[in-house]
Amino acid sequence: MQQRVRKAIFPVGGLGVRFLPATKAMPKEMLPVVDKPLIQYVVEEARAAGIEQFIFVSSHGKSVLEDHFDFSPELHETLVRRGKTRELELLDELYLEAGQIAAVRQPEPLGLGHAVWCARHLVGDEPVAVLLPDDLVRARTPCLKQMVEVYNEVGGNIVAVMDVPREHTDRYGVLKCGREKDRLVEVQALVEKPKPAAAPSTLSIIGRYILQPQVFELLENQEPGAGNEVQLTDALAGMIGHGPFHGYRFEGTRYDCGDKAGFVAATIAFGLDHEKIGTAVRQILLDQVQQLESGDPAR
Ligand code: G1P
Repeated sequence: MQQRVRKAIFPVGGLGVRFLPATKAMPKEMLPVVDKPLIQYVVEEARAAGIEQFIFVSSHGKSVLEDHFDFSPELHETLVRRGKTRELELLDELYLEAGQIAAVRQPEPLGLGHAVWCARHLVGDEPVAVLLPDDLVRARTPCLKQMVEVYNEVGGNIVAVMDVPREHTDRYGVLKCGREKDRLVEVQALVEKPKPAAAPSTLSIIGRYILQPQVFELLENQEPGAGNEVQLTDALAGMIGHGPFHGYRFEGTRYDCGDKAGFVAATIAFGLDHEKIGTAVRQILLDQVQQLESGDPAR
């Protein structure tokens, strides 16, 4: 019987440089895909996986992220007074229970590994999930829920993985693969952002992890790696051979919302799914394609 995964870390300290100027005064995690900010998608995914404690590793100017999940008496009263039942329901779904959300600070952007380490005192001695809000996964069963189900069977460390084009391996943590069974792949080695020619495979980590607390001990002394940052992948490599460690080929589609084109793709996919505007979005897309095909002179 595995110890239950109750806590999740959300590294949200990044500067959002790739999304300037949109992110100059607003955290990138607040960029909306259709009608919800990125952070809400990942928090909802974690909730669906049974997570009870939500730890934001944030930085200067990011307190709006906590506010987003907080009860706002003023807004609540106004909506009640105006009889806005639907809007009240939307907000009810959003609120976390008292004490469920906590934030720690990462004073300097020293890398993902350092961000995770900043949450060590709140996690303590139990397994923890890590979710990167840049990665949205559209799936029938939310990605982290799939992973928790697998974790309950096999334990140890689990990272969500997918094959990427070889020319993109230098954007990811990449696996050297051992035995494979169903969606699980034994991890034999991990390399952060290898050049395509040096990558041990194309099977790459996307932003969902279930980790054992030993990761904090390893992160404590982790030297900076790729990009001169303290890399989570490097600390994870130190856990290989000390218990089960698997890559999990999740079911679903991942959208890289840290990238402008990926963000637009997510907006289209989630727009098509949307119960209110899905049909309209479909028509817009069809019209756009038709315009492209007929050689719209404005493009
Ligand atoms: C981080 C991790 C990398 C992982 C990626 C997934 O990289 O360091 O191992 O593959 O997230 O999105 P980043 O995107 O922060 O450069």
